[in-house]
Amino acid sequence: MKKIGLLTSGGDCQGLNPAIRGVAKALYDSFGKDVKLYGIRDGYRGLIEGDYDAMKKSDFSGILTMGGTILGTSRQPFKEMNVVGDDGVDKVKAMKETYKDIGLDCLIILGGNGTHKTANLLSEEGLNIITLPKTIDNDLWGTDMTFGFYSALEVATDVIDRLHTTATSHGRIFVVEIMGHKAGWLTLYAGVAGGADVVLIPEIPYSIKKITDVIDARTKEGKLFSIIAVAEGAVSLEESKLSKKDFKARRAEMKHSIAYSVAEEIEKATGHETRVAVPGHIQRGGSPSPYDRVLSTRLGAKAAELIRNEQFGYMVGLSGNEVVPVPLSQVAGKLKTVPLNNEVIQCARSIGVSFGD
Ligand code: F6P
Repeated sequence: MKKIGLLTSGGDCQGLNPAIRGVAKALYDSFGKDVKLYGIRDGYRGLIEGDYDAMKKSDFSGILTMGGTILGTSRQPFKEMNVVGDDGVDKVKAMKETYKDIGLDCLIILGGNGTHKTANLLSEEGLNIITLPKTIDNDLWGTDMTFGFYSALEVATDVIDRLHTTATSHGRIFVVEIMGHKAGWLTLYAGVAGGADVVLIPEIPYSIKKITDVIDARTKEGKLFSIIAVAEGAVSLEESKLSKKDFKARRAEMKHSIAYSVAEEIEKATGHETRVAVPGHIQRGGSPSPYDRVLSTRLGAKAAELIRNEQFGYMVGLSGNEVVPVPLSQVAGKLKTVPLNNEVIQCARSIGVSFGD
C-alpha cells in the first residue's frame, strides 16, 4: 500500500484544487486500491501538529472548478522553521515525526517561494518530497509558469478594463495596485492586457516626474484620463538607493499601500483628479481559468508519474510547454523576477507604455 500526503502552503491561488485532483486521479489510476491519500490540514501547521485526514476517492471529485484549497493553508515562515519557539516545539523534528507516524511514502507539497525552502529542507532531511509550483506572482525559479498566474491575470485585467471606461467618462487618472511584492509579472501582463499607460514594477524604479510627463503629454493630445498600473512592491528611484533597513523603515511609516502615495504625488504635481483602486485578494479568488485548470492537472499528473518512478526531491515545472522535473535544490531560495530585457517589457515600451524610468 502506497501512502501519499498532500499539503498546500502559503497564500492560496486558483488552480490548487485542480492540481490536488490531478495528483489524486492519476495516483488512483496507477495504483488502484493500493494507494491511500492523506490531506495535511492548513499547510506546514498540520504537519507540525499532526493534524491530517485520511481521504477518500470521492473527496477529489467536484473540485476542478473550485478556487481556494480543500486542504486549507497557512503561512509558516521558513526562517522560523529551525527555531524552537516559546512552545518548545522543534518544528522540523515534529514534521518528520508526522510523516513517519502516517507512514508516508511521499509528501506532495503545493506552494510558492517560502514553501519551497521548507520543502527542500524536508527533502534534505531525508523525506520523499515532490512539489508543485503555485502562486499568482509567477516568481518561482525553475518553472516558466506557476499555476494561479493566468487566473489572477484575468481578474486584474478585468479590473483595469472596468476602470478604463469610468476613467474615460470622467477624465480621471486611476492608479490600480496589482499584487506582487517582489516580482512584477502580474502587473506587467495586466498592464499590457488592460492597455495601461504607465506600468510600475519592483524591477524598474520609477520617478514621479516621468509619470507626470506621460500624463501631461496625454493631456496635450486631448486624452484627459490615464491608467497607472502599480505593483504592490514598486519602488521609487529615491527608495531604490536606500539600504534595506532604511527602506523597510520608510515603508513602515507609510499609512497606505503604494498606490495611494503614487496617486497623491501625481495629483499634487498635475492637479488632475487621481483615484485609487486596490483589488487585493480578489485577484486570488474565484474559479481557476481554463489555462490554470489544464496546467495544474498536467503538473499533478506528472507528480503521480514521479511517484510511480520513485523519483523524489523534485518540483514539477513547466519548461516551454513541457512538464519537467526540476531538482528542489535548484529551486529553493531563488526568485524569478522580470528580467529587464524581457520581451514583454520591450514590446510594451515599443508601443509607448512608460515604466516610469
Ligand atoms: O504570494 C502571493 C500573494 O498574493 C502576493 O501577490 C501578495 O503580495 C501576498 O500573497 C499577499 O499575502 P497575504 O495573503 O498573506 O496577505
